Amino acid sequence: MCGIVGYVGQRDVVSVLLKGLTNLEYRGYDSAGIALQDSGDIKVYKSLGKLINLKNELEQRRAEIKQPIAGIGHIRWATHGSPSLVNAHPHSCTCGKLVVVHNGIIENYKELREELSKKGCEFRSQTDTETIAHLVADEYSKTKNLELAVRNSVKKLQGAYAVCVMHKDVPNLIIGARKHAPMLVGVGEGENFIASDTPAIIEYTKRTIYLEDNEIAVVTKDTVKVTDIEGNVVTKKVETLPWEPMALSKLGYKHFMLKEIHEQPDVIRNVLNGKLYDIDEPIALNEVKLDSEILKKLNKIEIIACGTSLHAALVGKYIIEDFAGISVEVEASSEYIYRKTTTDASTLVIGVSQSGETADTITAIKQAKAKGSHVLIITNRPDSNMARLADSLIPVNAGIEVSVAATKSYIAQVISFYLLAMHLAEIKGSIDKSYLKNLKHELIQLPTKIEEVLSNTTTIQECARKFSSYKNFIYIARGVNLASAFEGALKLKEISYINATGYAAGELKHGPIAMLDETMPVLSILIPGGITYEKVLSNSEEAKARNAKLIALTSSNDKNIDVLFDVVLRIPQVSEILSPAITCVPLQLLAYYIAEFLGKDVDQPRNLAKSVTVE
Ligand code: AGP
Repeated sequence: MCGIVGYVGQRDVVSVLLKGLTNLEYRGYDSAGIALQDSGDIKVYKSLGKLINLKNELEQRRAEIKQPIAGIGHIRWATHGSPSLVNAHPHSCTCGKLVVVHNGIIENYKELREELSKKGCEFRSQTDTETIAHLVADEYSKTKNLELAVRNSVKKLQGAYAVCVMHKDVPNLIIGARKHAPMLVGVGEGENFIASDTPAIIEYTKRTIYLEDNEIAVVTKDTVKVTDIEGNVVTKKVETLPWEPMALSKLGYKHFMLKEIHEQPDVIRNVLNGKLYDIDEPIALNEVKLDSEILKKLNKIEIIACGTSLHAALVGKYIIEDFAGISVEVEASSEYIYRKTTTDASTLVIGVSQSGETADTITAIKQAKAKGSHVLIITNRPDSNMARLADSLIPVNAGIEVSVAATKSYIAQVISFYLLAMHLAEIKGSIDKSYLKNLKHELIQLPTKIEEVLSNTTTIQECARKFSSYKNFIYIARGVNLASAFEGALKLKEISYINATGYAAGELKHGPIAMLDETMPVLSILIPGGITYEKVLSNSEEAKARNAKLIALTSSNDKNIDVLFDVVLRIPQVSEILSPAITCVPLQLLAYYIAEFLGKDVDQPRNLAKSVTVE
C-alpha cells in the first residue's frame, strides 16, 4: 500500500527519495510524488503510474531544482479519490507553503474539510489527506510553531495516519506523526530519515527508531526528538535493522518472485535452526510464553489471518488438531472483527501475517487481547505493529519478501506451524514418539527435496505454456492439502489474473462439476500413502468424464496417473501430512511461469498491495 520516505541531510535529496520510494515500490501503488525544500521554497513534483514517470518528470524539470536540503516522498494506492495527478501526494495547503504526505485513512475528513472550507481553505483534490495539509496550516497560522501545529492537528484526526509535514518557513525540518499506521526514523550522521517501512532507508542506515501510536518525531539533519501527543519528550531506543540491502536485489533472477521461490530451501533451514536440531530432542519453541501446565490443558485455539497467511493457518489447524488434539478455528480477520466471537481468556489466539501490518488482523488481535486471550503472533516482521502487540512471538525469518505474491513467507509460516503443532503434541503427550521422530527426520530432509523440485522445472514450464491460454482453472485436493489448493489457485489469480478456484475434491459433485468441460482444466493434488489419495483420484476421473483437461501434482510413480492426466507434475516422496510444505512450490512455479509467459507484471500485479494497511 502507500509508502512514505523523508530525508534531511547533505546527500542528493532527489536520489535518496527516489531510492527510498523504489524500495517501497513492491507494496503496490498507482501514483507517486515528492516535495523538495531548498533554502527559499518548496516545490512539488507528481506523476501517475510507475516511478519511472516521476523520474522522467524530474529529469525534464531538472533546471528548476536548486539545492534541496530536505524532502518528503510518497507512493499512493488510491483509497479516497481516483488515481490521478491531483490526488497524488504530497498535498499542499492553500498558499502552498506547507506540504504533507500520508498513509492511512482519515475517517472524519468530511467534517474537517467542511470546517476548513468555511475558513477559506481551497481544496483541490478528493483525498482525505489534503485535509491534514489545511488543518496543520490553519493551526500554524495561530501558533507559528510547526511542532505545536502538528500536535494540535493530529488530536483532531480520527482514523489511521502516518504523516510527514514540511513547511517553507521552517527549513531543514520534517515532522512525522503516527497512529495505527507504521512510521520510523532512520538515524544517520549529519542526516536523518523518516519512512513508513525499513526498506526505504536500508541503503543508508540500519539504525532506526520505531514510533508508537500518538508519537511525533521532530527531525532535523542533526537531531531527532520524539514526543507524545502532549509534547512530553519520550526516550526511544535506537534499534539495528536485521536486513541487508542485498535482500532488495534480484540477484540475477528475472523477478523477485522467482528469487524468493528459490530461497525456500534455505528459508526452511532458517526456521528449523535452533528449534529442531536432533530428532531425539524435543522441539525448542521457547517463543511460546505460556506455562506448560496451561498448554497441557489448552483446548481451544483460534487463528486469524488474511490471504496467503490464512491458507498457512488452515494447514496449522489441520496439523494442530491431528498432532495435539486441540480444537482449532480459523477465520479471516475481516470476518472475525465484525461478529460476536466466543474468544475468551482461555483461548490461545494466533495471528499470522507476513507483514505484521495488515489492518484487519491488527484489529482482530486487539479485540482478542481485550478479551484476555494470550496472543501468539507468527510473522516475518518482528519489527512490525503486530509483533509489538504479541504476548508470544514466533518470527519466521524468511527475510524481506519483495514480490507482492507471498511465497517464501508462506512456507516459513507453514513450517512454523509444524514446529508449533509438534511442540504442543510433545507437551500434551498426544503423539506417538516414533511417528514424531520420523516426522522430524522428514522435516529436516524437506529443503533437499525442494531443491530437487527447483533444479528441474522443465515440466512445470511446459505445463505453463500449454495452459496459459485457459481462462478458468479448478484446483482440487482433500485433507491437509486443501489449503495448498486454495493457495495455488490464489497465486495464479494474483499474478496472471486468470480465474482459479480451490475446492475440496469431494465438493466437486455438489455444484462446481456443472462448470466442467474442455475449457476448464482441473489440477489435482494427489499424495499417495495418505487417506485421501484414492478419493482425489476418483474425483479427477469424474472431471475427465466431463472432458476437463487434467493436471496432476503428485509424488506417485503410478503409471496409471500418466494415462489419466494430461500433464503430471512430480514431486519427491513425502508423507501426506508434511506434503503442504512441498506441494506449494510447484504451484507457485506454475503460477509464476503462466504469468511470465503472459507477460504480466509478476512482482507488482495490478490492484494489489504488499501489505494492506487499511480495512
Ligand atoms: C499473498 O500472495 C497476498 N499478497 C495476500 O493475500 C496477503 O497474504 C494478505 O494480504 C495478508 O498479508 P499479511 O500476511 O502481510 O498479513
